[in-house]
Amino acid sequence: MKNKTVAIVGATGAVGREFVGCIEARGVPLASLKLLASARSAGQTQIFRGETLTIEELKDDSFAGVDIALFSAGSGISKKYAPIAVKAGAVVVDNSSAFRTDPAIPLVVPEINARRIKDHKGIIANPNCAAITTLVPLWPVHRVNPVKRLIVSTYQAASGGGAALMQELEDSTRAWLDGEAYAPKVVKYPYAFNLFSHNTAIDMATGYNDEETKVISESKKIFEDDAIAISATCIRVPVLRAHSVSMTFECERPIAPQEVRALLEKAPGVRIVDDWANNYFPMPVDASGQGDVLAGRIRKDLSDPSGKSISMFVAADQLLKGAALNAVQIAELL
Ligand code: A2P
Repeated sequence: MKNKTVAIVGATGAVGREFVGCIEARGVPLASLKLLASARSAGQTQIFRGETLTIEELKDDSFAGVDIALFSAGSGISKKYAPIAVKAGAVVVDNSSAFRTDPAIPLVVPEINARRIKDHKGIIANPNCAAITTLVPLWPVHRVNPVKRLIVSTYQAASGGGAALMQELEDSTRAWLDGEAYAPKVVKYPYAFNLFSHNTAIDMATGYNDEETKVISESKKIFEDDAIAISATCIRVPVLRAHSVSMTFECERPIAPQEVRALLEKAPGVRIVDDWANNYFPMPVDASGQGDVLAGRIRKDLSDPSGKSISMFVAADQLLKGAALNAVQIAELL
């Protein structure tokens, strides 16, 4: 990427800042970096590799000379500006849900389907964070013993709702501890010392919320297997930036927990944290700030006497592997 100009759309947001952090931490050799956000942030500055960059307002002409544009400013902005960026000659890696289910647009987790990157016609979609967290440690199993049924329950961090929701978690917790009233601004419910069903719309026909529907449909698309039966329950928990997922999956043939452990030990992007003696398993505090998906509690699902089912608990940094890191990995592969 030595000669590439990269633009970040949503540079002041929770994921946008991590795009910059990942590029810096991974030493991605760029020609230049352009930071774009709304008019509210134009003129603010950010330090990148010791250089002061000024944030510019996102406009129709923002993409002249840009080779790769990383978007994380919400689906509305992606729908409007990604085609404009492509027309100007950029390849877009989009972190919103705007294009994920479009069959013509690759939906990529590099550890799983990097080969799909070459199919792009200008836009590559970065998957939903709960889907990435679930699928990175499931793929090595699926490759050797196909998963037929998957049940996931998520414990999702505030960061998935952006910088404003992270702030709400901090402010409402501080108010609670100080014995002060706090009126929620970003979500409808009290967030401090509470949890609630994911704050996306419920489909009145199925009872599933939008996040659950994304996990189901994106998993099928990424695994390229529409036949997997999937159910998801997505819950927002008072954790700042790492998602956890409890999953139970049934494979085509019997499978032992030791086989799953052995597969995950050599899987890229996965780190085993499975210390039964010390009751030490994946936790958001350990997942935060690092790029691997932590996997543990790998055990037989005792409710399935056929021996084909495994239960497991995983955690990953929502802002890194769940969003910015996955997108930067795609950009590197481009
Ligand atoms: P801004 O900070 O100027 O509002 P998050 O996901 O943390 O909520 O961040 C959303 C990101 O999307 C921010 O960088 C925000 O910029 C950006 N954004 C929101 N609305 C617009 C817009 N109309 N044009 C450009 N960027 C936008």
